[in-house]
This record gives sequence, structure tokens and C-alpha cells, in this order.
Amino acid sequence: MVTISRIRTKIGAFLASIRVKILLAFFVVVGVSFIVAATNMNGVVENYLISQRTREDSLAAENLALSYASLFQSGDVSALNNRLQEDALGLDGRLLLLDTDGKVQYDSMNGLCGQRLQIREVLRVLSGEDTASYGMHRPGRETVYRMTGEAEAEYVAYGVHEMEGSWGPLGALVYVSRIQGMMDSMSQVSRQLNTVFVLIGVVALALALILSRVLTSPITNLSRTMRRMGEGDLSVRVPEKGSGELLQLAVNYNTMAAQLEKMDRSRNQFVSNASHELKTPLAGLKIMLESLLYQPEMPRELQEEFLQDMNHEIDRLTGIITDLLTLTRMDNRQDAMKMEDLDLSALTEEIIRLLRPVAEKRKQQLESRVTPGLRMTGDGSKLNQVLYNLVDNALKYTQDGGTVRVSLEEADERLIWRVKDNGVGIPEEDVEHIFDRFYRVDKARSRETGGTGLGLSIVKQMVSLHGGTITVESRMGEGSCFTVTLPKNREGGPKA
Ligand SMILES: Nc1ncnc2c1ncn2[C@@H]1O[C@H](COP(=O)(O)OP(=O)(O)OP(=O)(O)O)[C@@H](O)[C@H]1O
Ligand SMILES: [Mg+2]
Repeated sequence: MVTISRIRTKIGAFLASIRVKILLAFFVVVGVSFIVAATNMNGVVENYLISQRTREDSLAAENLALSYASLFQSGDVSALNNRLQEDALGLDGRLLLLDTDGKVQYDSMNGLCGQRLQIREVLRVLSGEDTASYGMHRPGRETVYRMTGEAEAEYVAYGVHEMEGSWGPLGALVYVSRIQGMMDSMSQVSRQLNTVFVLIGVVALALALILSRVLTSPITNLSRTMRRMGEGDLSVRVPEKGSGELLQLAVNYNTMAAQLEKMDRSRNQFVSNASHELKTPLAGLKIMLESLLYQPEMPRELQEEFLQDMNHEIDRLTGIITDLLTLTRMDNRQDAMKMEDLDLSALTEEIIRLLRPVAEKRKQQLESRVTPGLRMTGDGSKLNQVLYNLVDNALKYTQDGGTVRVSLEEADERLIWRVKDNGVGIPEEDVEHIFDRFYRVDKARSRETGGTGLGLSIVKQMVSLHGGTITVESRMGEGSCFTVTLPKNREGGPKA
């Protein structure tokens, strides 16, 4: 039962497939014109043979009628009989001479003498309707046998022509023509033609089957690959064969699949990085907590130090979790942008004011060159985080006594932030990765300074939500410069 229903489903799917549609289209176009061509061809051959035979027989009857007229009138029986037999032999037919009443007077085969012939062609000529008449007949084997002496023949033709004497009509000459041979070869030709047509049809069908397979195989491949991808195997690809739209489809599909696979890999990477980052402070917390628990006689100052470290670790954990939440919210676009008209110059000055004590603690110069009154449409709290992170990084990755320069200016309907430091710089091979989540150039050092490597990925995300771009130029040991370009007006301004 199961197999029957499976076969039925398979047949159903096959009938609904593009292959069958291509085959059907082929049949409608090629098949119909083929049948028309085959029928016409047969008809042309038959018409040609029949009309040629009609012409020859009619001409023979006419010539004979002319040459027999005087002999018939003179009534020389033996001479007439001799000539009739001779001519009939030459024509491979039967010759009859009829008087005006339609009675057979002379017969090359003798059997019909004295009889009246009830043949349409004879009646037409004797009644004076026509001077000559020709017709092919299929009167049944018996009649054909009686008229031609052929045992198995079905067809016979009569060519009749009037005989005219010097005083008027004498009667008619009847040429009984044996056309069975022609009919046989005609049906043989038609059989051969049909065989050829059927053969061509079969070959064409086979070609159509192959062609439809070639045409649809990229689609079949694609759908098979998509099913496997749907089942979870993201590494499968479609073979990029063929040409035109189908090749383009395969290429595009593979690009999409590669993108999906990359996204899947980076998501996994992200989760494992995040777990790892969260595990480290938790492990530290546990060690400190256990020391406090199992060493009750620990000196008070040490206990306090431990508690302070624990507090610090908890802050770090909270920071990481907040960053992670910010990132995932932006990924899912849940965190709607609160667009407002804001004074970016004031926002910049405020952040510099906030971070100045941090710089002073390490004797760093925090210089600013801000064009006043620059406004744009944007999400204030996000832009705040962008600049905060950049300046925070610049201070973090610059040695004590270094210099950090922040500038804001307008160019070409865009506002440009530059955060430049003379700090450690970023190695060339790391520059393309610093915007990746959890990426840190110097893992040990960054941990010391409290970084998790999420800051710049958040910055990049926020900038691109504003339709802006961020680039970095850096030289090891000389410092780095981060440039953020923001369109003043997301809709009206030039798109990033
Ligand atoms: N101004 C800079 N100078 C040199 N290196 C930098 C600078 N800014 C960023 N980096 C490098 O890029 C890495 C990624 O920066 P990012 O801000 O994403 O992370 P972080 O500062 O380490 O941690 P946090 O998530 O707390 O910001 C840093 O670890 C650092 O190695
Ligand atoms: Mg940072």
C-alpha cells in the first residue's frame, strides 16, 4: 500500500514537473507540424502517381480510339481481333470496342463479346456527355477478376474514348487498365514514409527527453541542495555548470549559502566567545568567595580587598552583559532608533569634559577642535556611546603623558569625527579585525585594562545604523586615527 501511494506521489510530481511541460510543449509544436507534414507528403506522392497514370491511360485510349475508328467501320473482324490482342498485350491491359448501343463487339480477351457494359465512364461517352472519360474503381475482387483476369487484385481503371467514323459516332473504345501494381507500390511508399516519420518521431522524442533533462537538471540540483541545507547541512553547494540564467541562479544561490554558512559560523563563534568571557570573571569570583568562606580567620584588610575585587569583577560582568544585550538588540533591530535633531558639537564637548579627569589621571593631553553649532538628525544616546568608546580606547591604548586629539567638522553635508592618538598603534594584520566581536590585539593587556573587545563592534553597528562609516589608520608605535563620517540627514543627505 505504502509503495503504491509512493509511486502515485512520484508520478504526480513527475507530471507536475517542468520536464513534462517542456515535453508537452515540444509535442504540441513539433508533433502537430510533423503529422501535418506526414499527411501532406503521402497525399503529394499519391496525387502525383494517380494523375500521371490518368494522363498516360487517357492518352493511350485516345490514340487507340483514333487508330481503330476506320478499321471498326470497315468491319474487318480478323484484322481487328489481331490488332486488339497485339495492342492489349503491349499495354498489359484489355481492349474492348463497343457499338453505339454499348454492346461489346470486339474484346481482346473475348469473354465479354455481345454483353452490355454498365460502367459509368462508358455511359458518359456513349450518351455524348463527354468524348473521353477516365475513372479508377475498387468494385470488389470478383468484378476485377472478370474485367482484368487478375485473381487477387482489388483495383481497376477504365479509360473510355469515343470512336468517330466518317458519318458520325461509331461507338467507344474501352481500355481496361491494370492499376493494382500502382496501388501496391503507392501503399508501399506510404508505409515506408510512415516508418520514416515514426522513426524520426522516436529520435526526436529521445532528444527532447535528453534536452529537457539537461535543461531541468540545474533546477533539480538546486532543489536537492536546498533540501539538504534545510535539513541543516550548510556546507552543500550547487554545481556551477551551464550558462545564462540558470548558471546565474546557481552562482547566486551559492553566494547566499556561503553567506549563511559564514553567519552561522560567526554566531557559534560569538556564543562560545561570550561564554568564555563570562566564565573568566565568574571563576575569579568563585575562588575569592571560597577563600572568604573557608578562611574565616583571614585578616580584615585582606577580606576587604577580596570583597572589593569581587565587586570589581561583578561590575565587569555587568558591563559585558550590557554590551552583549546592546549588540543583540541592534542585530535584531529591536532597539528602535530615537532619531532627533541634536547638537553634535555640544555632545562632543560633553564627552571630552567627562573623560578629561581620566586623561589627567595619567597625565595625558586631551585636545579638542570642535566646530561649534554642528547639528544633525540622529540617536543622541547611541552617538554618545560611539564617541565615548573611541576616546576611551584612545586613552586606554596610549601611554601615560600621551596626546589624544578629538575633532568635529563638517564637509559635504556630512559631519566628521576624528579621534587621533599617539599611542601603541595597531599591527597591520589586526586592523581588519578590530571591529569583530571580542577581538583584542593584545589579549593579556586588554584584560588588564578591563576591555572585552566589544566596544568597537558596538561603535561600528551604531555608526552604520546612522548610515555612516568608520575607518581607521594606524601605525605601530606611532598611534591611531579613527574617522567617523555621519550624514547630517539620513533621508536627505548623501547615503553612506
Ligand atoms: N586607539 C587605539 N589604539 C590602539 N589599539 C586600539 C585602539 N582602539 C582599539 N584598539 C585595539 O582594538 C581592540 C578592540 O577594541 P574594542 O574597543 O572593541 O575593545 P576593548 O577596548 O578591548 O574592550 P571594550 O569592549 O571594553 O571596548 C582593542 O582591544 C585594542 O587592541
Ligand atoms: Mg574599547
